[in-house]
Amino acid sequence: MSFKDKIVIVTGANNGIGAATVALFAAEGAKIACLDIREPATATSDPNRLDIKCNVSSQEDAEAAVKQVVDKWGGIDILCNVAGITDKFERVSDTSNDQLTRVMSVNFNGPFYLMRAAIPHFLSKPGGPVEGTGSSTKLPPHKGTIVNVCSFAAVSGAAAGAAYTASKHALLGLSRNTAWMYRLEGIRCNVIIPGGVATNIMANSGNEKFDMSGYMSLKLAHDTMPGIVWPDDVARAIVFLAGANGINGAELTVDQGWRAM
Ligand SMILES: NC(=O)c1ccc[n+]([C@@H]2O[C@H](COP(=O)([O-])OP(=O)(O)OC[C@H]3O[C@@H](n4cnc5c(N)ncnc54)[C@H](O)[C@@H]3O)[C@@H](O)[C@H]2O)c1
Repeated sequence: MSFKDKIVIVTGANNGIGAATVALFAAEGAKIACLDIREPATATSDPNRLDIKCNVSSQEDAEAAVKQVVDKWGGIDILCNVAGITDKFERVSDTSNDQLTRVMSVNFNGPFYLMRAAIPHFLSKPGGPVEGTGSSTKLPPHKGTIVNVCSFAAVSGAAAGAAYTASKHALLGLSRNTAWMYRLEGIRCNVIIPGGVATNIMANSGNEKFDMSGYMSLKLAHDTMPGIVWPDDVARAIVFLAGANGINGAELTVDQGWRAM
């Protein structure tokens, strides 16, 4: 699929996997709305880039960002929910309400708010729902695509703390439900499952100090990680799923084979 002039929203756009994703879409000529709680490192005058300061865990911010994109470019084609934060590997008995709320709000509520705000704009494109079932079903028109960045912690209990693991399992469930619910209306929703990625996510999440009980419990599983991947590797998988018509409700691992263990 050509991404030329496609209207793309990327959250967490100013660092790590999000920044790498923006670079790939930009190279393809897409129009990209870059949502992040932080300012971009350098200001740009690129007419195809729209920087929006947005805390995805705020419903108000998320809805205002979607409106700003639609007001500027007239619609949305692709939503990539990349922004996320970690916990400190705390077990459930050591997880504070504040930590639970903070991690769930960014990693789960954020994608939820953005999907809820973006999907009506997908659905408003021409072409109604597909009629018929089974082999008599016609292909739905392509209206919109969502790619949600989960984690190995979405499919394993041995990768992170209780809050992060719960948030990514929840995001995987939301993604599958969305893939199914809109399958006949031209909307696809897929998931990336990164293993360990070379970014500063722990420090960016304010988690320089690990919770040592939790960390030691995870160590055995982390010691089996075949190796880290680079943000670019994950970004390539995101862009692939964004253009992969026919793929819906899928989980694509980018983990050097960790999940194959
Ligand atoms: N780095 C890893 O090892 C790893 C592994 C598996 C999954 N992931 C997932 O990949 C995604 C990206 O992580 P990364 O490693 O690139 O992290 P990162 O810290 O390098 O980048 C995250 C970006 O999200 C932004 N952000 C954080 N909170 C936000 C908020 N409330 N609203 C808007 N923007 C916000 C940050 O400012 C930052 O620019 C996350 O969802 C993370 O859970 C990362």
